Amino acid sequence: MLNILKMLSPYHSKNQPHHLYYLCIYLSMNPNKVSIYMKKIFVVTFVIFVASCASVKVLVPTQADADRGAKKYPGYTLVDLNQGKALCEQHCTACHGLKKPGSKTAEEWKEIVPEMTEKANEDGGSTAIDAKTEDLILKYLVTMGKPE
Ligand code: HEC
Repeated sequence: MLNILKMLSPYHSKNQPHHLYYLCIYLSMNPNKVSIYMKKIFVVTFVIFVASCASVKVLVPTQADADRGAKKYPGYTLVDLNQGKALCEQHCTACHGLKKPGSKTAEEWKEIVPEMTEKANEDGGSTAIDAKTEDLILKYLVTMGKPE
């Protein structure tokens, strides 16, 4: 451990001690601390890794999701669900970043989607959302929404 850190350190000269040396001396006097230190590095790295994945991940709908949706909306299919997702990604990113379906409950989406549709249609033109599109987006967000 000590030798590895010495090699990595930019300060090889004995006259220029580096804070890594003090860490090495401390760790060599307390060998059991080495594993604690390594564990800490590992845990921190792992948490950063998971957090960075979670921030970009939007769940891909499955048949189980479509089946859950069909309980609320008879005849609802995975095709409808995927269409809703695509329409949401297309229309709901015109003014802000993509909002994750899991960030709101079904009840919240039922309020937010009509509000946002109104906003989109005020601007008119390319952002406009018609009734069929609104319906598919709402059903997608409700189905994939935060469990209540
Ligand atoms: C015309 C622009 C525009 C479009 C299109 C748009 N939004 Fe928004 N959205 C906004 C603005 C502005 C805000 C922030 C102000 C507010 O909350 O009213 C916002 C806020 C939100 C919020 C946060 C609200 C809260 O209470 O936390 C959510 C969720 C959201 N939008 C979802 C959507 C969805 C879903 C769609 C597609 C159906 C959509 N937005 C389309 C302009 C838009």
